[in-house]
Order: sequence, then C-alpha cells, then structure tokens
Amino acid sequence: MRQRIRHGHSRPEGETVERIRSYEIVSEIAFLGRRRRVYTRIVALSGARPGDRVLDVGCSGGYLARLLAAAVTPDGQVTGIDPASAAIDYARQRAPGNCSFAVGVAQDLDLPDRSFDVVTSTLAVHHIPEAERAAAFREMFRVMRPGGRLLVADFRPSGRRLTLHFVGQAMRHNNVDLLDDLATAAGFQVESHGDLPMLRYVRAVRPDGT
Ligand SMILES: C[S@@+](CC[C@H](N)C(=O)[O-])C[C@H]1O[C@@H](n2cnc3c(N)ncnc32)[C@H](O)[C@@H]1O
Repeated sequence: MRQRIRHGHSRPEGETVERIRSYEIVSEIAFLGRRRRVYTRIVALSGARPGDRVLDVGCSGGYLARLLAAAVTPDGQVTGIDPASAAIDYARQRAPGNCSFAVGVAQDLDLPDRSFDVVTSTLAVHHIPEAERAAAFREMFRVMRPGGRLLVADFRPSGRRLTLHFVGQAMRHNNVDLLDDLATAAGFQVESHGDLPMLRYVRAVRPDGT
C-alpha cells in the first residue's frame, strides 16, 4: 500500500499512500468504527468555522477535508495537498464545491504566504522524511496568516498488536512527543495538546505580528 517514490520536486516526498480504497478500509478498521467521531473532534479542535480558508496537509483521499468543508460553509474553502496523485484523483472525485486538491509535499508548499486561517495535518508527519519535518512545519507557518490556527495529529503508539502491525513500518521514525517541538521551532505558539483514540494532537497559533 505504501510506496517510496520521487517526483519532480526538489526534495523526496516520503512514503506516499497510493491504494486509497485499501487505505480507507484499513483506517476504518484501525479506528474500530470511531473514525468519523475522531475526525469530527479534530475538526472541532482545529477551530475551523464558517468562512475560513483551511489547508489540510497530507490529505490522502480527502476524508478530513470533506468534514472541514462542511464546517467552513457557506463561504469557506478547503485545500488538500498530498504527494500521491492517486489520492488526489480520489479526493477530487468526491469533493464538495468548496474543496480543491493538489499534488504537493508538506516541506515545499506551492501556496502563497499567509493565505490560510487554519492548517491541519493528520497521520502525515510520520510519512514526511525525518530530515524534512522541520521544513514542513516552517511551510505550514509561512502559509498561515498571523493569528491562524494549527492542528497536527499523529499516531500515539498504544501497544495494541493490530495497530502496531499496520503502522509499525511507518512509525519507525516517529516520535509524537516531537510535534510540540517542531511547532515551536517553526514559530508557532503551542496552546494545548492531548490524546484521542490512536492519536496525539497539538494545537498551536501563529502569533499576531509574526
Ligand atoms: C497515513 S496517510 C494519512 C491521510 C489522512 N491525513 C488521514 O488522516 O487519514 C499519510 C499521507 O501522507 C502523505 N505524505 C507522504 N509524504 C508526504 C509529504 N512529504 N508531505 C505531505 N504528505 C505526505 C501520504 O501520501 C499519505 O496520503
């Protein structure tokens, strides 16, 4: 399901997820039927509200983007980026009118400065090459307007055998405790962090005047 590839970007992507239907099924199973509830909570934690411009980094097939799109209607817009073109095709086929998707990598966003109110990223940081994660957070900071809000969540190792089986490989360079440090180093002010089923999240803001 995962593939390590390079496109025409100046930097390698990391591990992309190309088999989107399989990924969707595995994800439903891994969350033990609570995926929708967990992601609805992520939308609430992101603070996305009507009228916001939201960026979802590592959006895969657009599951979270579609929930965000509902939260920002009537005037808001959601943009999803992912290096896996199969995922972007899948997301585009299911996109509501206020969602758009593009192929891209977190560490080199082809997006203007200060153009989003909210940036989200779920289960994607551990896919970004370790050496590129600081750059990815700097990019999230760059494209966010001052006062904007960041919500990043990644796997929280639970020790459960099933979870470890599915995510073990991808987790080998992951340390969710580093999410706070990555956000802080990029210039964000961390407001809170916490746990959800399978996930640890950090909420942060880009301070006004930066
Ligand atoms: C486990 S999936 C998570 C998808 C979705 N955000 C979710 O919560 O279900 C990780 C995603 O990160 C993407 N990815 C890999 N390298 C990336 C990079 N450098 N920048 C952004 N996304 C990347 C993969 O293609 C994949 O779609």
